[in-house]
Amino acid sequence: MTTGRTVRIAPSILSADFARLADEVSRAEQAGADWLHIDVMDGHFVPNMTVGPLIVEAVRKVTTLPLDVHLMITNPDAFIGEFADAGADYLTVHVETCPHLHRTIQSIKERGVKAGVTLNPATPAVMLSEIIGDADLILIMSVSPGFGGQTFIPSSLEKIAEVRRMLDRAHSRALLEVDGGVKPDNAKAVLEAGAEVLVAGSAVFSTDDYAAAITALRAGHPPAARVTGVTAAH
Ligand code: DX5
Ligand code: ZN
Repeated sequence: MTTGRTVRIAPSILSADFARLADEVSRAEQAGADWLHIDVMDGHFVPNMTVGPLIVEAVRKVTTLPLDVHLMITNPDAFIGEFADAGADYLTVHVETCPHLHRTIQSIKERGVKAGVTLNPATPAVMLSEIIGDADLILIMSVSPGFGGQTFIPSSLEKIAEVRRMLDRAHSRALLEVDGGVKPDNAKAVLEAGAEVLVAGSAVFSTDDYAAAITALRAGHPPAARVTGVTAAH
């Protein structure tokens, strides 16, 4: 894989064993994770409930990895302070939940946290056009948010490429991240479309060998291709 961009893998703890969370975080860290992705769901914006600032604070205590906190909640503005204090490095909000997105981004940055902006699959890339120069991170959702283990929506590839072009045109240094259904067998296409941060929940935590999964995602091909010496199609 040679896109010239540094690839970062962000395992999503949504698919981890929460009864052994510290151990899961440490296994992911030792396996080569670059970031940890934490999915915050409120049962309102998305049809599932997960964790809040308390868990972000707990994870902060057991790892030095950057914490990439994805807010799938109806009123993120009300919680930015709490998640910042809990130790988030990136706070990502959905455009669908932010009527005053520019203000929300500034409010995240004022707390010394990097500001991410994300789009649901049905929301067009043009919704980013006015804030593309302000965000530190753009996250393209490649499934409808709410659950781990869903199937990657193929049309996301075109959207990733479109947002890559928007970022390049704006000379933006914002990182481009993709979340949902990312697996070793589609990572190459996602990276070639222009992504550089891959979120992976089930692709990491639902396997026995986290290091092999992370290596395969970063390389952009399934582990079998490496084991057998068969060259993956490039
Ligand atoms: C989905 C979450 C994702 C989820 C990804 O709503 O935002 O971060 O954990 O899980 P996988 O990689 O299994 O699709
Ligand atoms: Zn997520």
